Amino acid sequence: MHSKPNSNADTPQKILVKPRVFFKQWKLAGNPAYFFDELTSTFGDFIYYRGIFNFYFVNHPDLVKQILKDTNTFFDKNTLLYNRFRNVFGEGLVTAEGKSWEKQRQLIQPLFSPKAVKGFFDIMLSSTIKTADSWQTLADDSSIFDVATQMNHLTLEIAGRTLFNDDFSDISDRVSHWTHTINHYSGQPPIPILSETWFPSPTNRKLNKVMSEFHHFISDMIKQRRNNNRSNDLLTTLINATNDDGSKMPDHQIEKEVLGMMIGGHETSSNALTWIWYELHKNPAIENKLHKELQDVLGNQLPTLEDIPKLKYTRMIVDEATRLHPPFWFENRNTMEDIEMWGHTIPKGSTVAFSRYSLHRHPNIWEKPEEFNPERFDTTNPANKRSHYAHVPYGGGPRICVGINFALLELVVILATLSQRFRLKTHSSHKNIMQALLTMEPKFGLPVTAELRK
Ligand code: HEM
Repeated sequence: MHSKPNSNADTPQKILVKPRVFFKQWKLAGNPAYFFDELTSTFGDFIYYRGIFNFYFVNHPDLVKQILKDTNTFFDKNTLLYNRFRNVFGEGLVTAEGKSWEKQRQLIQPLFSPKAVKGFFDIMLSSTIKTADSWQTLADDSSIFDVATQMNHLTLEIAGRTLFNDDFSDISDRVSHWTHTINHYSGQPPIPILSETWFPSPTNRKLNKVMSEFHHFISDMIKQRRNNNRSNDLLTTLINATNDDGSKMPDHQIEKEVLGMMIGGHETSSNALTWIWYELHKNPAIENKLHKELQDVLGNQLPTLEDIPKLKYTRMIVDEATRLHPPFWFENRNTMEDIEMWGHTIPKGSTVAFSRYSLHRHPNIWEKPEEFNPERFDTTNPANKRSHYAHVPYGGGPRICVGINFALLELVVILATLSQRFRLKTHSSHKNIMQALLTMEPKFGLPVTAELRK
């Protein structure tokens, strides 16, 4: 936690601090988000850390903006952590670099344009209604259920139907297991030998098994689609894509792209929603205000696409949840050349990292940072003016999340539709332990009961 404010965000002390070597290194193996938070609250916004891994760590919007936007061409993803991701995601969009990234981004981005994403509204709504209908019995029986699993299945179904023309209903439990395994592998400290998938550690063995199952599942999906190429979704776009020389994308690359989209396209949104349910139960006044907005804007009708921009408070809740609980919480880059940051030369080949968990709690930017307060995102309030790079749950600059429009629409549709019918209550058996792997999630899920709203 940030107990003592460090530099002022507007007039930062541009000091590069070097903690003693191995400063509390062991804590990295516990919860790394807490470790980095302790690092910044102790040493400030700009740190050179030396231990088993050496890295620069930044915690200021100006430096984050420099990495993601202003001088982004000086940075690539050739880091220990991204190299570990590459063992899973290959050279898919999340990990690709240079010309290959540009080409993939140009191919995929149109499917996520604001206009294209609006075309997914009906699917988002109908899948959410299906979930709401299934909760009716749970509410009648006062059953306890894990809303984290429910959100996982719902967002997977939406990603499946919108991007792959398949609701994945018969494999949702398997995909959850695959995602969980990949999340664990990707979230471990990136010790090189342990990251090699041939190294026979229990995590690697589990990963290899999952990757083989994934490979069979996706290659079957590609085969079937080649035989029946009628839909106009992400999978067809990838299959039909041609290189400059007219050649097609090889299957192994399509597979990695599909894998990245399947995982990236549902795991993050599902975590965001789980944290929202958690916060709503903790903050009844905020929940009441949400219900009032839903009543005022929607009455007893389901949301339409035209209603979405009117659901301003619902959107503010989404933004505040991704501030306090950023699903993809950690970022890191490699410097491709020597680069100046705040007057210091960062040598070529250095890792520069930041934690959204800490940036989004910077005590000089966010008043009472630990408080869940959606009013911070009321854009009509001039007091809320701050750098765009103080809140970067989706990243920024050219590599900003390609699915940002998709995610924002999906989160508002799901939150509004389910909250119209139900109030969720966190069950007393809930153990509130946050785990920071590739994504940040409640370690033991979120057991809840659903209450039908009058
Ligand atoms: C709450 C939901 C989501 C969050 C918080 C989130 C977060 C992020 C972040 C922080 C990045 C940037 C990483 C970087 O700087 O390199 C990113 C990139 C990416 N996201 Fe998302 N994401 C979400 C939803 C989605 C969805 C719904 C999709 C697809 C359907 C998606 C696909 C991707 C892809 C492909 C990239 C790589 C983009 C590139 O490097 O060009 N994400 N996401």
